[in-house]
Amino acid sequence: MMIMATAITTDPMLPQPYLVRELVKETPDTFTLRLEPGSTFNRSMFQPGQFSMLWVFGVGELPISISGDPSLHDRLVYTVRSVGQATHALVNRGVGDAVGVRGPFGAGWPVEAARGRDVIVVAGGIGLAPLRPLIYQILQNRRDYGRLVILYGARSPRDLLYRKELGAWARNRETQVLVTVDYGGLGWRGHVGVVTTLFKYCRLQPSRSVAMVCGPEIMMRFVTRELEMQGLSRDDIYLSMERNMKCAVGFCGHCQYGPHFICKDGPVFRYEHIRKLLEKYEL
Ligand SMILES: Cc1cc2nc3c(=O)[nH]c(=O)nc-3n(C[C@H](O)[C@H](O)[C@H](O)COP(=O)(O)OP(=O)(O)OC[C@H]3O[C@@H](n4cnc5c(N)ncnc54)[C@H](O)[C@@H]3O)c2cc1C
Ligand code: FES
Repeated sequence: MMIMATAITTDPMLPQPYLVRELVKETPDTFTLRLEPGSTFNRSMFQPGQFSMLWVFGVGELPISISGDPSLHDRLVYTVRSVGQATHALVNRGVGDAVGVRGPFGAGWPVEAARGRDVIVVAGGIGLAPLRPLIYQILQNRRDYGRLVILYGARSPRDLLYRKELGAWARNRETQVLVTVDYGGLGWRGHVGVVTTLFKYCRLQPSRSVAMVCGPEIMMRFVTRELEMQGLSRDDIYLSMERNMKCAVGFCGHCQYGPHFICKDGPVFRYEHIRKLLEKYEL
């Protein structure tokens, strides 16, 4: 079943009340929160790659990608890395606490364009969070897609997200999952090196592949270069971008990226459309 674009039926500027139902510690600084609507008639629909604005009462509002299963409409799941005041307050909510949710916002991953093709997912660090709904959708509709290749890099073994799921995903047919870390340490027997070093272990068919990439911008620059070297067309490479946000609906200009607003035109962009901007480090 494919999820269709979801119209925002309520005022997009008005946060809807949700309650924290579960909080799972993924890594020392990253937590996954399951939120459920405060009112029973509020169905939570989204497309893989979309994000919400989460309002932490008394602290502020911040954009966070939806990291859960798009086929489950009774919840919204987020994976949050605590880097500052708002994210720290968010991951310190307790079960039963309220969080305001606006959205979903933005253009997600091109799930329709990927139908019938091999999908190469490349993630760095917390970048696996916005890609996880896409992975769920592909695995639930396995016959609609070709091979699924997931390349994932984290700083160290203790920074790896969704460790159990990574193993489970690899057991699916026609699915290859490769994981690497920058620094392994004594107990680590897996790959060590940046995520691009994993390409030599996959068997890609560039003409029938589409790639979806999310991670720090420096990582995405190297990954796009590698994908092009592997023979993928720039039109078949998609990236998820991040900038500070306020309104999330294209009014305030906070998220401007060249001629684009990341909240409305992105966060997922076709590489060909933002290639020149990505080359400029200061933007
Ligand atoms: C579309 C979109 C989707 C996002 N999805 C997620 C997500 O799924 N999970 C998640 O954890 N975060 C996500 N972010 C980033 C998140 O919104 C920011 O980390 C958050 O707003 C920081 O707020 P803060 O008050 O906690 O930190 P601040 O006080 O604003 O910043 C604290 C420190 O962290 C640095 N910092 C701030 N933001 C980032 C960042 N994005 N990356 C690295 N360093 C940063 C600042 O420069 C500063 O040094 C997303 C951002 C966007 C635009
Ligand atoms: S956040 Fe206001 S225009 Fe994008």
